[in-house]
Amino acid sequence: VDHVVVTGDLTHGGLRRERALFDEIFEPLRAAGRLTVVPGNHDRLGDDIGRELMEGQVSVTAADELHLVGLDSTGVHNRKYVSSYGELTLPVLEETVAALQAAPPGKLSVLLLHHHPLGLPEDSWLEWTLTRLGFRHSEELNLGKELLRRIAGHCDLVLHGHRHRAWTRILFEDEARPLMLANAGSSTESGLARLFVSREARLAPTQEWLSAGLSEPPVPAPAFGPRAQSISADPIVQSAGWRKDVAA
Ligand SMILES: [Fe+2]
Repeated sequence: VDHVVVTGDLTHGGLRRERALFDEIFEPLRAAGRLTVVPGNHDRLGDDIGRELMEGQVSVTAADELHLVGLDSTGVHNRKYVSSYGELTLPVLEETVAALQAAPPGKLSVLLLHHHPLGLPEDSWLEWTLTRLGFRHSEELNLGKELLRRIAGHCDLVLHGHRHRAWTRILFEDEARPLMLANAGSSTESGLARLFVSREARLAPTQEWLSAGLSEPPVPAPAFGPRAQSISADPIVQSAGWRKDVAA
């Protein structure tokens, strides 16, 4: 594996001792320049280590064939656990688009952020209940669709976290440069890390996973809530409805 990305929630409670453990485990990759991280809502809890994880809200990492743009989608409201939804402002959106447009030719252009730009089913009955009670806990990123529309043609892969199940969507499939929107799911729950393969800055249309002992991709647990009906249980979703939704 050439490069490892962790799209947020490096810690559970945003605690310094949790970050120290993460740093200890990932130090060899970081020292070799093969690690990129963005913060998640959990990193804003406790000691609030989130804003220490990257410089500014948009960062660019060049690594071999990769042009990685990190976007911090957390906000101060994430200090409360029940307010775990993301935040994207127009200036940060513009900065993100510009950073992706600046990718040198021949590089795989990748956007990393924690929160999901498109709606996904709740991960648990607790989340579903919170949604029903009016909490924005599981809500997709505001300006998420706008972000995807604006980066179309300048980005090959969007990796997000936050949702615990793995999902993949191919957006703008009929365009010259399709966009893969992917979530590896929670690696600490599945015991798996997702592997992406590229050759000459083109993503291979495969789905591969790494683990200590398992070789099977995770089987999605039943989805919860009203959104569950709108999406297939297949972890690779190439639904015309979703593409139309984003393009609209
Ligand atoms: Fe999260």
